[in-house]
Amino acid sequence: MSAIVADQLAGSALAVVASEKMPRHIAIIMDGNGRWARSRRLPRTFGHRAGVETLHRIVEECGRLDIPMLTVYAFSTENWTRPQTEVSFLMRLLAESFGRYLDRLITEGVRIRHLGRCDRLPQDLLERIREAERVTARNSKLQLNVALDYGSRSELTEAIRAMARDGVDLRSVTEEQVSAYLYTRGLPDPDLIIRTGGEVRLSNFLLWQAAYAEYYATQKFWPDFGAADLHQALQVFATRQRRYGGVISAE
Ligand code: FPP
Repeated sequence: MSAIVADQLAGSALAVVASEKMPRHIAIIMDGNGRWARSRRLPRTFGHRAGVETLHRIVEECGRLDIPMLTVYAFSTENWTRPQTEVSFLMRLLAESFGRYLDRLITEGVRIRHLGRCDRLPQDLLERIREAERVTARNSKLQLNVALDYGSRSELTEAIRAMARDGVDLRSVTEEQVSAYLYTRGLPDPDLIIRTGGEVRLSNFLLWQAAYAEYYATQKFWPDFGAADLHQALQVFATRQRRYGGVISAE
């Protein structure tokens, strides 16, 4: 059985990847918006706006490829340290984007879920997220998890506090119990983590969940990342041997 991983729209060479070699869950660190803008002598905010368009194109492409889950790192727990003007812009842009794309996401069968802290986000953004989660709750074509005020260390710290509050016996705690206290509870771990923008690090993203994920880093800035780049990442992923700490039989 095979799935076609390219099309004329994307303009990339037609390639075929066996469907059992396709990731079920892709996570993306969307980096390089600011540098993309600067390289064009534009304010950084233009890069973030272009980044939203890119995200929508990649969501569409994942839908076309029957990839059931996509998680994107939209704002980290550390991003609050950016200049106040950029933080405010990003919060407004995110709220506006949830509103602007909602109808299309509904039509495309996308289900939205927020991952991260809720207590520091502006009220209007939080309301947009809740609304998006509510109206897309029955969609099942593709789940888009938006990590927003997300950081793995904060997630794990909060999970430990919540387990203690709930009276979980921490001396015998299991991996399954820890997973059930994370923002990602109930979600499969990512198979493939893509980072754009040239850096090769996780930056506090899905540290627990990425234990056996494959990594793919590209120099492309996020606004330049297109369907052809996604196909390339998928082709590289298909060549990886995933052993989960074991050995391949007959080795
Ligand atoms: C990293 O680029 C990008 C961000 C911190 C923001 C990413 C957010 C979006 C693309 C919008 C997503 C939209 C929705 C609706 C979820 P950077 O600013 O760190 O770039 P740099 O490394 O070049 O400075």
